[in-house]
Amino acid sequence: MTLLELDGVQKRFGAVEALRGVTLAVDAGEVVALVGDNGAGKSTLMKTITGVYRPDGGAIRFEGQDITGLEPGAIRARGIEMIYQDLALARQQDVAANIFLGREPVRRLLGVLPMIDRRRIETEALRMVRRLGARLPSVHYEVGLLSGGQQQSVAIARALTFDPKLVIMDEPTAALAVREVEHVLELIRELRRQRIGVILISHRLTDVFAVADRIVALRQGMVIADERAAATTMQEVVAHIVGAH
Ligand SMILES: Nc1ncnc2c1ncn2[C@@H]1O[C@H](COP(=O)(O)OP(=O)(O)OP(=O)(O)O)[C@@H](O)[C@H]1O
Ligand SMILES: [Mg+2]
Repeated sequence: MTLLELDGVQKRFGAVEALRGVTLAVDAGEVVALVGDNGAGKSTLMKTITGVYRPDGGAIRFEGQDITGLEPGAIRARGIEMIYQDLALARQQDVAANIFLGREPVRRLLGVLPMIDRRRIETEALRMVRRLGARLPSVHYEVGLLSGGQQQSVAIARALTFDPKLVIMDEPTAALAVREVEHVLELIRELRRQRIGVILISHRLTDVFAVADRIVALRQGMVIADERAAATTMQEVVAHIVGAH
């Protein structure tokens, strides 16, 4: 099933044409890597999908419904989650608190006083960590003390609590040590097994080839290649990115 469809999406910033008619599709359970040089338009494209920017032209459909120009909250409610490169985690709080950051479940003390339902946070957080198969010491561990890869797992577990159908990840492996990269790639494969669509923005082609079903290359705001990973090579993708083709 086609989950997300972009049809001729355009975005301008004054004189800069950041997106010049981008057309692409993502299926449920498909990992699509989005590659391209600095300034190619990758972040702009993601922010246009998530509603941070309103496209100047073209259409965006999700599960067959037009979502063009909807507000970020409405798009999120449809099931699109974005994990930003900085992860936006509270380093001094523990794993469980981070998974529910900003939307802690509340219970009423004596039926009136609102209180954060810490027990529910912990059981739910543990459920998400298990669902993902993430390797975390405990949900009580302070996030700032976790490794980069473990912090990435917390951000993914957090996204899972929204029950997303599509997860967009911006450079999830850029800051990671080699051993941790494999762990994050395994989490991405787990999302695919759960039939979640994934858009992976990455400059690291080894990671892209290790996990992506399809590779879409952007150059100067245009899709210049859209191929099955198994049908292309790293050399070919590099040539697309730098414009040698
Ligand atoms: N808010 C903005 N205002 C003006 N111009 C912008 C804005 N955001 C992006 N641009 C321009 O749009 C183009 C695409 O930028 P974008 O950030 O989408 O590239 P990118 O592919 O994400 O690059 P990188 O790999 O460096 O993150 C660039 O020319 C950039 O200068
Ligand atoms: Mg970017």
